[in-house]
Amino acid sequence: MSTILNEFTLDAKDNLRRLGDKANGFIGSKVLLTGAAGFLGAHFCHFFSNLNDKLNSNHKIIIYALDNFIRGKPLWIETFIKRNDFEIIDTDIIKTKTFPNVDYIIHAASVASPIFYRQKPIETMDANVIGLRNLLDHAKNSPCKSFLFFSTSEIYGDPDEFNIPTKEEYRGYVSSIGPRASYDESKRYGETLCVNFFKQYGVPVKIVRPFNNYGPGMSLNDGRVVSDFFQNIIKNQNLELFSDGKSTRTFCYVADAINAYLLVLLSKHDGHVFNVGNPKPEISIEDLAKKIIQITNTNLVINKIKNSDIEYLTDNPKRRCPDITKISKMLGFKPLISLEKGLLKSYRFYLENYKGIL
Ligand SMILES: NC(=O)c1ccc[n+]([C@@H]2O[C@H](COP(=O)([O-])OP(=O)(O)OC[C@H]3O[C@@H](n4cnc5c(N)ncnc54)[C@H](O)[C@@H]3O)[C@@H](O)[C@H]2O)c1
Repeated sequence: MSTILNEFTLDAKDNLRRLGDKANGFIGSKVLLTGAAGFLGAHFCHFFSNLNDKLNSNHKIIIYALDNFIRGKPLWIETFIKRNDFEIIDTDIIKTKTFPNVDYIIHAASVASPIFYRQKPIETMDANVIGLRNLLDHAKNSPCKSFLFFSTSEIYGDPDEFNIPTKEEYRGYVSSIGPRASYDESKRYGETLCVNFFKQYGVPVKIVRPFNNYGPGMSLNDGRVVSDFFQNIIKNQNLELFSDGKSTRTFCYVADAINAYLLVLLSKHDGHVFNVGNPKPEISIEDLAKKIIQITNTNLVINKIKNSDIEYLTDNPKRRCPDITKISKMLGFKPLISLEKGLLKSYRFYLENYKGIL
């Protein structure tokens, strides 16, 4: 428990340093964070609690941390239940239309893991469409300073080679009925809802498209590739590759990504969409597995096996790499944490929090 807090705290302090005076934009404000119990939610909670610990009592931020805990209640949330600057709201965004009036809305609630959104496609679409609509209606009726919507790099589908690295203008090559469509298409519609709530009602929405964020706090059974490989490592099993390993991805360490999300949230770029990722290195899944074996200094090998889910690879993009020129130029974002460093930090977290309990 204490170790979990330490890893998050190190990243939160790093982000406070990076944000500098811009963090003053949060002083005395109220923040509604949906998906607070998730991977990115955890880092936002730690960022705000660390910021609050530095502020005078009349400058404190109130954080409404909302989640329906569909994936369970993480241990660290207990710490925030005890704090009087946090209010934990155990609610499903699909079923509620009542939210606190706040200055900032960070909307990160969604079913984000491919394994789970394929098991629960209807709940996934409802959260991304009805849940988002409930929040946007609230923001229309009770104006806030800024609203951050978490879309995804998946809205680009499987881009052709001329659109890698992928710019925000690329319109996507996405199946509307494939096994990933519940997630991809509802996020696409979510973006359309957001830009039109901005145009028609002036809701100050910004959209971010995360490209494979990873790091401490991502659940080991999340079903995303980095946590899958670390699960193998922690269980001392050979690494399982459910493909030929040739598709490529880029990976953005979570503290870099949180820095980008905060810069976007605090900006005046209403109605804009930003890629958030780290374009370097673009690495094959097989090379990622090799790198993880190397940095963890284990004697494990890679086994290529067929996943029992026959649709596992359907519509899986061959390459995914962000063009981050827009966010770099408009907001000065620059990823700072190398893949090696980020993987080592993740390994430390998984070792200290999961070793012996799997
Ligand atoms: N982490 C990434 O690399 C990544 C990539 C692309 C997009 N995103 C998007 O960023 C956001 C956060 O991602 P994450 O990695 O933290 O995901 P996560 O799965 O770790 O967390 C999502 C949280 O949302 C909650 N939730 C789901 N449905 C809900 C509902 N109906 N009502 C209330 N709470 C609900 C879950 O309980 C969970 O705690 C999501 O919108 C996701 O689609 C993340």
